[in-house]
Order: sequence, then structure tokens, then C-alpha cells
Amino acid sequence: MRYIDLFCGIGGFRIAINQALKGKNINSKCVFSSDIDPDAQNIYQMNFGEQPAGDITQIEAKNIPDHDILLAGFPCQPFSICGQLKGFEDTRGTLFFDIARILDCKKPNYFILENVKQLVGHNQGKTLQKILEILQQLGYYIQYKVLNALHLGLPQKRERIFIVGYRQPLSFRWEIQNIPMKPLTEILEPQVSAFYYASEKIRNNRLVKYQGKIASEPTIWHENKAGHISAYPYSCALRAGASYNYLLVNGERRLTEREMLRLQGFPDEFKMVASYSTARRLIGNSVPVPCVSRVMNCLLNQDIMNE
Ligand SMILES: C[S@@+](CC[C@H](N)C(=O)[O-])C[C@H]1O[C@@H](n2cnc3c(N)ncnc32)[C@H](O)[C@@H]1O
Repeated sequence: MRYIDLFCGIGGFRIAINQALKGKNINSKCVFSSDIDPDAQNIYQMNFGEQPAGDITQIEAKNIPDHDILLAGFPCQPFSICGQLKGFEDTRGTLFFDIARILDCKKPNYFILENVKQLVGHNQGKTLQKILEILQQLGYYIQYKVLNALHLGLPQKRERIFIVGYRQPLSFRWEIQNIPMKPLTEILEPQVSAFYYASEKIRNNRLVKYQGKIASEPTIWHENKAGHISAYPYSCALRAGASYNYLLVNGERRLTEREMLRLQGFPDEFKMVASYSTARRLIGNSVPVPCVSRVMNCLLNQDIMNE
């Protein structure tokens, strides 16, 4: 199965698809990848031996190799594609347009798109409706679902919408069973350097604001926008641009790069050589691997049933 990895970031989709296809004994090959961010390109190259192409808006669809499945965790741009739009050409200026024009030209059998959960309610649901209509006009049957990484084995509350498209009329079903989350003890490193510890001032400030009991098991303290502190036995969603103290292990220290990768379901062999701030941004932008592999399994199971 040949696939393309658009907006590939550090390759969360690629790891998940390879896992899902390997599980079904299907050979897979990534025939094209693209990301505009040089740091993401470096990490992708380091792990997959391939330098992604750059800005997708500058790449002609006909120059992209043929493929069976298109994968895209596209950026959650503020969409402005509702209104009176008639077709996908009117979405020019949004990165969704680039997905649509590639689907239109290359007509892969399947696609999986991912975005933030907020897309569902954006502009009273009209944005998503428009996206789905355009994908249907391009000849696809569409399904979508919001999945939470917390229900698929990871101790991270991260809700994302997945949109699946296929050209044949399959009786697609979302057969995804909940998996108990790994405890934080399996994610957290036993010892971390002083670099990760918040200053005494910040730690004291957290303790003063925190109203709950101090648990004996590890927790991750989350500061919401109003400055309210909660402690959970899982992490709230990693975010690329959040303050350094938005998530603190036991109210004391930041997550390490490896811990953040584990929270997204990346295997420990994954290499991340970058500054801490770059790593936070890249990992915070990434996709939870088990969510994508479950979605891919739904497609694969369906395909086999209809053969
Ligand atoms: C939500 S992230 C997807 C991350 C990816 N799924 C992963 O597992 O790491 C969106 C990505 O789109 C990339 N991007 C934004 N504009 C782009 C463009 N014009 N061309 C190619 N990539 C772009 C960003 O650099 C970012 O890495």
C-alpha cells in the first residue's frame, strides 16, 4: 500500500500506518511526504531517512507520485471557507484546498484527515459541513469521528476529529474498542535532570493555588486559562505553544522530551535531537499514534470484508 504523508510533522501518521499495515501483513511504502517546518523535516529525516518536501502550496499535484492512501493532519487554521462557497476551488488560501486539489488529481482510494475537535463546532458546524461536502463532490464516501487518546491507552486527554474517505461504497463501521490507559508510572522517567524543574517560586505558587489532596501516585498538574490548577493521573493535551508551566509533573517539573513522545504513543526508539522548545512544539503538534492506527484498522477491516 502506497501512501503520502502530508503536513507530516515528525511522522506520527507514518508510525501509526506502518504499525497498522504490518499488523495485517501488508507491505507499505511512503511515496511522498511534506512539511514546511525545517525542524520537523530534520527530525523526520533522522527517523525515516527521508527529507520531506517543503511548502505544499508550491507543489503541483501531478508531480506527486500515485498512491493508495492520502494522510494529512492538517493545521487547524482559522477556516473561512463557509459562506456561499460552491466548491473546493473556493477554499483557495486554506491548506484544506491543497488536500482537495491533490485528491482531485490523484484520486487515491482512501484518505485519513485529522484536525482539532473544535472543527466539529466551528461556525455552528458549517465549516465541517463544507469540508465534508467538498470531499463528497470529489467522489468520496465520508465518515468522521472524534477520538480521545485517553480512551485508546494513552494517559493524555487529547480529542481529535478523524475524517475517513473511500471511493468504493463500503459499509464502514467505527469498530474501536476502548483500551485502559497506561499509568503515568509507565510514562515518567525515574530520574530527570535539574533542567526540567520549575523554579521554587513557580512550585510554591502552584502549591498555594492547588486546592486538592496531594496524591501518592504521580499526577500531572494542569493550569487552565483562568489560572486554576487541577491534578490528574493523566496529562491534559500537549500543546505546541503553551506556557512552560502549563503542565507540571507533581506540580514540580516539566515533562521530558521522551515523556512527551510516550504521551503521544511514539516508540522509545524514536530519535528527537532538538532544543527543548523545538521538541515541545513538534511533539505538541503531533498526532496520538494509537488513534491513527485504530482508524486505519477500521479501514483495513472493512476493505477485507468487502473483497
Ligand atoms: C498539526 S501539525 C501535523 C503534525 C503531524 N501529524 C505529526 O504527527 O507530527 C501540522 C503541520 O503542518 C505543517 N505545515 C503548515 N503549513 C504547511 C505548508 N504550507 N506546507 C507543508 N506543511 C505545512 C506544519 O509545519 C506542521 O508540522
